[in-house]
Amino acid sequence: MHDFHFLDGELYCERVKVSDIVSLSGTPLFVYSRKTVSDHYRKLDTAFSSISHLICYSLKANSSIAICRILAEMGSGADITSGGELYKARMAGVPSERIVYAGVGKTRGEIEYALDSGILMFNVESVQELHLINETAGRMGERAAAAIRLNPDVEVDTHDYTKTGTSENKFGLAFEDAEKLFLEKSAFPNVDITGIHVHIGSQITSVEPYVESVRKVIGFAEGLRGRGVELKSLNIGGGLGIIYRDEKPSTAEEFAQAIVPLVEPTGLRVIIEPGRFIVGNAGIMVTKVLYTKKSPSRSFVVVDAGMNDLIRPMLYDAYHDIKPVHAAPPGAEDGVVDVVGPICESGDFLAKDRALPRVKSGDLLAVFSVGAYGFSMASNYNSRLRAAEILVDGERFTMVREKETYDDLVRGETGRFTKMCAGGNDFIVIDNRFGNYPDGTVLAARLCRRSHSIGADGLLFLEKGQDAGRLKMRIFNPDGSEAEMCGNGARCIAAFAYCKGIGSRKLNFETLAGLVSAEIIDGEVKLKMSEPAGLKLSLELSVDGRTYPASFINTGVPHTVLVVEDIETADVESLGGKIRNLPVFKPAGTNVDWVEVIDTNRIRLRTYERGVEGETLACGTGAAASAIVCSLLGKTASPVSVETRGGSILTVCFERGEKVTDVYLQGDARFVCEGSFDLSPSS
Ligand code: LLP
Repeated sequence: MHDFHFLDGELYCERVKVSDIVSLSGTPLFVYSRKTVSDHYRKLDTAFSSISHLICYSLKANSSIAICRILAEMGSGADITSGGELYKARMAGVPSERIVYAGVGKTRGEIEYALDSGILMFNVESVQELHLINETAGRMGERAAAAIRLNPDVEVDTHDYTKTGTSENKFGLAFEDAEKLFLEKSAFPNVDITGIHVHIGSQITSVEPYVESVRKVIGFAEGLRGRGVELKSLNIGGGLGIIYRDEKPSTAEEFAQAIVPLVEPTGLRVIIEPGRFIVGNAGIMVTKVLYTKKSPSRSFVVVDAGMNDLIRPMLYDAYHDIKPVHAAPPGAEDGVVDVVGPICESGDFLAKDRALPRVKSGDLLAVFSVGAYGFSMASNYNSRLRAAEILVDGERFTMVREKETYDDLVRGETGRFTKMCAGGNDFIVIDNRFGNYPDGTVLAARLCRRSHSIGADGLLFLEKGQDAGRLKMRIFNPDGSEAEMCGNGARCIAAFAYCKGIGSRKLNFETLAGLVSAEIIDGEVKLKMSEPAGLKLSLELSVDGRTYPASFINTGVPHTVLVVEDIETADVESLGGKIRNLPVFKPAGTNVDWVEVIDTNRIRLRTYERGVEGETLACGTGAAASAIVCSLLGKTASPVSVETRGGSILTVCFERGEKVTDVYLQGDARFVCEGSFDLSPSS
């Protein structure tokens, strides 16, 4: 059943002594056995091997990326119920074409994300949801695949909260309503509805209700086929029960022996969504005894894990076996106790009236069978930190999730920043839509200083725009001055807004230089720049008695471009500073670019940036300015690849008619890290 056992009075997970893990990591702690996870997956996979099937592990049981990765590598798919689970499944390497998405409350954003990821299918739970999926897919130019979740009205013997297949429950559709959807396919032109889904509940220990529900839905499927509906898959859900105490759940083989003969003749591909069966017995929670105490009527063992770590006893009156990690000597006396946590509620217990060997402060207790719905239902209630998770593999163990810190606890309540880089520039990006930071000037000067603070080429604010519903980018230089625009910064803002779910893949946003639009394409950001202005070719700049041929163009910010033979020999720092301050460019000043033309579609660039007052590794508006100037001088043609000092390549394309129009800048925009910088935003 699992790989936790006692040897010489010591609890082991596989070949690792549990107390050895605790001495490194402390308590409370979740410990998982890799072998138990993979054995259970294999059992089920083997049991169904005679028919076409796909196991979609149900992430809600335990969404640890490490566990999902083990299963993904064994061929498992994923049953998800939120955008967050989709994110984690993909991070664990579950291929999108093995992901099924159930749940009665999918949002438009989640549907977009799932379509974008190319998941196998939605398990649709309502007529309105199907309309939204159809409409969203149409708008995105995608095709959605769907199964309709049926509510078979089958009673199961489990806790009321985990029954899902009766007409009292919110899940699925009644057969007659579902039938209409299959027959009205033309109302949903962007959705292929070729599957049926049922899930009747959780912790079901006998096969009878499965047989009843599968019989019902197969009858329904045959009826549909008789009316010309094409069906490909039948998802029979999850819910297989496990042993917590003295249950006698049917085995994987018994389950398959009952189900396979029913589904085999249909030729449908069978999908199974087990969660608990795979991970339930694969995890324990280790907790330390803090105190023992008595009231006139009861004895309490107070431990350092509470209902925030394991809510099942409180929520479902669930039984979890508890044993001391160092087994009590034979014949040791038992006491009947309540094992309670530190939380200020009387419902905070792990066990009630439990016979346990006498324990004392400092003893370790193992709470069994918490691999499913243990950590995944944990919370920060009472501002408690969620526990660490350890994965044991033979004699090795790794921490697959750190214990939370006080910093994690205040995340979202302190100043959060994201460090990003694009085209060789680095930025600190802050979501300031709620105006938490009234003064970008001071903040930029403080945070951008390298060696003293986070350090960056600039501070980007994502703010509310002038127009309702529109976003705005503001950019501050490290000296605190505010710039009108920055091409690389704008690409970071677009990627930031998209990844944080604030903006869509195609986004228009305001800048001081006007409205810009951006699009995320294959992990890069393509930015439409404002129309170039102020063009002056063939300027003669006089500095220290020498004359430099140059051109000027404003691509959102002012740029002076010098085309040279070899940019390596350019005196960027000193000459750049002098050109930047020439009276002809006052009062705004200018950025200065040195360009070396490699061939018609490739140039190399070095830039002196105003505000930074020195050379930077890249400059998006500078790349655009240089590419356009070179083209106007007859040296290049769109598209132009621009090699920046930082080593990255930016692509600039534009149209050349009477004027230069439709200027685009495309290249990477990457997340580096996130963190918090201050406890009080105003300080
Ligand atoms: N598929 C669907 C659509 C589900 O809703 C669920 C679980 C599963 C599959 C996986 O069920 P499993 O094989 O793990 O039983 N928190 C409760 C269990 C809630 C189950 C929710 N749905 C507990 O701790 O007992």
